[in-house]
Amino acid sequence: MILTVSTKPYADQKPGTSGLRKKVPVFQQENYAENFIQAIFDSLEGFEGQTLVIGGDGRYYNREVIQVALKMAAANGFGKVMVGKGGILSTPAASHVIRKYHAFGGIVLSASHNPGGPTEDFGIKYNIGNGGPAPEKITDAIFDRTRNIDSYKIADVADIDLDTVGSFDLAGMTVEVIDPVTDYADLMETLFDFPAIRSLISGGFRVVIDSMSAVTGPYAVEILEKRLGAPAGSVRNEVPLPDFGHHHPDPNLVHAKELYDDVMSADGPDFGAASDGDGDRNMVVGKGMFVTPSDSLAMIAANATCAPGYRQGIAGIARSMPTSAAADRVAEKLGIGMYETPTGWKFFGNLMDAGKVTVCGEESFGTGSDHVREKDGLWAVLFWLNIVAARKQSVKEIVEAHWAEYGRNYYSRHDYEGVDTDNANALVTALRAKLGSLPGTTINGLVVSAADDFAYHDPIDHSVSKNQGIRILFEGGSRIVFRLSGTGTSGATLRLYVERYEPDASRHGIETQAALADLIAAAEEVAEIKRYTGMNEPTVIT
Ligand code: G6P
Ligand code: ZN
Repeated sequence: MILTVSTKPYADQKPGTSGLRKKVPVFQQENYAENFIQAIFDSLEGFEGQTLVIGGDGRYYNREVIQVALKMAAANGFGKVMVGKGGILSTPAASHVIRKYHAFGGIVLSASHNPGGPTEDFGIKYNIGNGGPAPEKITDAIFDRTRNIDSYKIADVADIDLDTVGSFDLAGMTVEVIDPVTDYADLMETLFDFPAIRSLISGGFRVVIDSMSAVTGPYAVEILEKRLGAPAGSVRNEVPLPDFGHHHPDPNLVHAKELYDDVMSADGPDFGAASDGDGDRNMVVGKGMFVTPSDSLAMIAANATCAPGYRQGIAGIARSMPTSAAADRVAEKLGIGMYETPTGWKFFGNLMDAGKVTVCGEESFGTGSDHVREKDGLWAVLFWLNIVAARKQSVKEIVEAHWAEYGRNYYSRHDYEGVDTDNANALVTALRAKLGSLPGTTINGLVVSAADDFAYHDPIDHSVSKNQGIRILFEGGSRIVFRLSGTGTSGATLRLYVERYEPDASRHGIETQAALADLIAAAEEVAEIKRYTGMNEPTVIT
């Protein structure tokens, strides 16, 4: 029943910021997914007889690859696979299931916030036993293996019925099809004050969640409508679709604009939230106030003890380098550790495992805590609802009070998508060459205090990650950061991150782009973005 199939390596299976992501037709090439899955197994040791978790965000090609992964797990010697019904598990739910059932690891099929469909994106990511994304040591080993792989193992058996909860035998391995929602919803109920949120909602506070036709629909319906009593229909676009209804399932001001406009309208809801394709990202909008992801991290940290799961306080905070320093001020005030890591949730895992940090966040609409080892969209939404319920204030009031207390970090990210890869690399190379000579000089009237290419020294395993983003810091605490995205599937995306700290509360009401205009002009002056990208404007501003 177990076949060893010979195969030829593909040269392009290097995992990016978050696993291997390619267009569906790339994955449909002969043995493409099989090679990568076998390379994962070949890079691991000691899983004989152990449990593997498999799930995905339900996008196009999810079911096909799940069947392949199940048969390969059996052939490679796993004792059991736990798989979400319908092949569904949100990324944070997969992380939780891995931890709760002490699985050896998990395979998550997702391309996160990227579009889905026959010609859109697909992805495969491996998570380790702590529930978090595999660290670079493992993803590097996987990549090495893909370059010389010559065979893979697969059980030659019929497909498993993924739509019936229960236990099945697959070539001697047990397949347990589980309800994807229950374990996760139960966990949320232990962390947050559900009775307080329920009475907030029954008291007339109107909450809307846009699941963007992606994986969080069933989770949000169970939690918001069933367990918290919000009226039916409070979760919009709640049915996961293989092509996300042709939308870009990315919760930001561009792709979730309808929700934003609705919350901002006079008779719209009091609170709106959205999540991405695989449920790990979040966007939070209160009436009259969009909460930036960087601010969200700082404000969740500052108000953490409102939530029962965090009543005892938080151990520390971590953020990715391009994320604003708003959280740093909270850590300082609380007298707890603050860690600055490269972009990518995988860098938080060691810090959480070592008990150094409790909450983590990234500017890319990611927030989470050590309850799992992934960022968690619905967790962030529930945290905000818990804070609103506990403080009996609106989101707007909470945000403004925070700024008044800590100062405001004006922050924006400008993306230039679909840039020619050579041109994007040339921009970065030219900038890198200038770094040494910048300190002390003036760019658009701003004095450079320091400039470098961020390198991270992991304090736990002492690994070093270099070239993680170019930072130019100015006197007074403003900064611009440049990096190339590691999650795209075609061409290059240049990201420019711009930040200014404003302590003066009388200056907290300025429109963000206006508050950052001189820094944005400085970025153009130093990096010649228009010339290198051939674009006059960013494609997305968040
Ligand atoms: C994914 C990762 C995040 C990362 C984000 C942006 O969501 O899980 O950790 O911050 O992508 O990454 P990028 O390399 O595209 O800027
Ligand atoms: Zn995601």
